[in-house]
Amino acid sequence: MATEQKLSFAVRQHPGPVAAATRDELLANPGFGKIFTDHMVVIRYSTARGWHDAEVKPRGPIEIDPACAVLHYAQEIFEGLKAYRLPDGGVSLFRPEANARRFADSARRLAMPEMPVEMFLDSIRELVAADRDWIPTIEGGSLYLRPFMFASETFLGVKPANEYLFMVIASPAGAYFKGDSPAVSLWVSDDYSRAGPGGTGAAKCGGNYAASLLPQSQAIAEGCDQVVFLDAAEHRWVEELGGMNIFFVFDDGSISTPPLGGTILPGITRDSLLTLARDAGIVVREERYSIDEWQADAKSGRLREAFACGTAAVVTSIGSVRGTSVDFRIGNGGQGLLTEKFRAQLTAIQRGHAPDQHDWVMRLS
Ligand code: PLP
Ligand code: COI
Repeated sequence: MATEQKLSFAVRQHPGPVAAATRDELLANPGFGKIFTDHMVVIRYSTARGWHDAEVKPRGPIEIDPACAVLHYAQEIFEGLKAYRLPDGGVSLFRPEANARRFADSARRLAMPEMPVEMFLDSIRELVAADRDWIPTIEGGSLYLRPFMFASETFLGVKPANEYLFMVIASPAGAYFKGDSPAVSLWVSDDYSRAGPGGTGAAKCGGNYAASLLPQSQAIAEGCDQVVFLDAAEHRWVEELGGMNIFFVFDDGSISTPPLGGTILPGITRDSLLTLARDAGIVVREERYSIDEWQADAKSGRLREAFACGTAAVVTSIGSVRGTSVDFRIGNGGQGLLTEKFRAQLTAIQRGHAPDQHDWVMRLS
């Protein structure tokens, strides 16, 4: 039930924030997901009181009971979005309403309360205001925001909880992929699927990522960067990576991406690139593409490029693909031309270097 209530946030500044010189050192090379800002947002929900007790407070551990429902049945969802430093010193978000809507969709699938879009946006605004000095100014840098919500009730019955904790933390980010390689390598998971029909594949819930970790470890053990999942029913159709959607670029200039059908996360980067491609007059197909077709097209040259896309990874070329029954390179195994164009175009809009024709950028200050 989405109540349209407006909360005011109690703001408690960190009494001993990280010193500016230390922070600047950390921001020079933040990596991904390792450094955290001074503050966090907390909002509570209970069936009896609805959303309440909204706070911005010093970031720190939280105490939960060992019988806390999320520890047992994994009722947890999250989002990922970035705050960018604009050329004039201002700060922007990219399509945050889309994250808010997807968060509500994920909540519905996990039988959790749907946070109103405006409340989600307010929570982001509050945290970015408190921690704006943590936005890196290095090339490609941003402040990665991680809103999440979990069942906080102390109860072991298998049913939707009556109490939830919504939180937002922030982490300065540089490149998601380490190393200097211009393209990533993929391992095709033969044994495991990420999501099945009727499952939670379209929701951004922690459980999906837990299920992806073993196949992702196998990918690493095979010397690849990322796992690519096939559909659960036929084990034939390419779906997505552990944390990114996927696109294919063909020699006739057209592009394709697997269709959303409940098993794939509806990526905001995916949707934005589809729009930019259509704007540019590129023929775009949302259609199924099999692993065998992918190998045949890469070998014949019909497939020119493939790329992964998502908030964390932005737009990244896929150079090679391996599995127990496939082994192929895409193009020259490096960065694709159209891929690079998309990456440049998208990041220019996000960072205020190019016109925002679709009203995607939300300026915060
Ligand atoms: N697919 C998965 C499984 C993801 O975790 C992500 C990252 O959020 C994406 C796709 C890309 O989604 P977005 O572009 O909204 O970040
Ligand atoms: C994101 O791109 O925001 C993701 O969630 C991918 C990964 C870091 C889980």
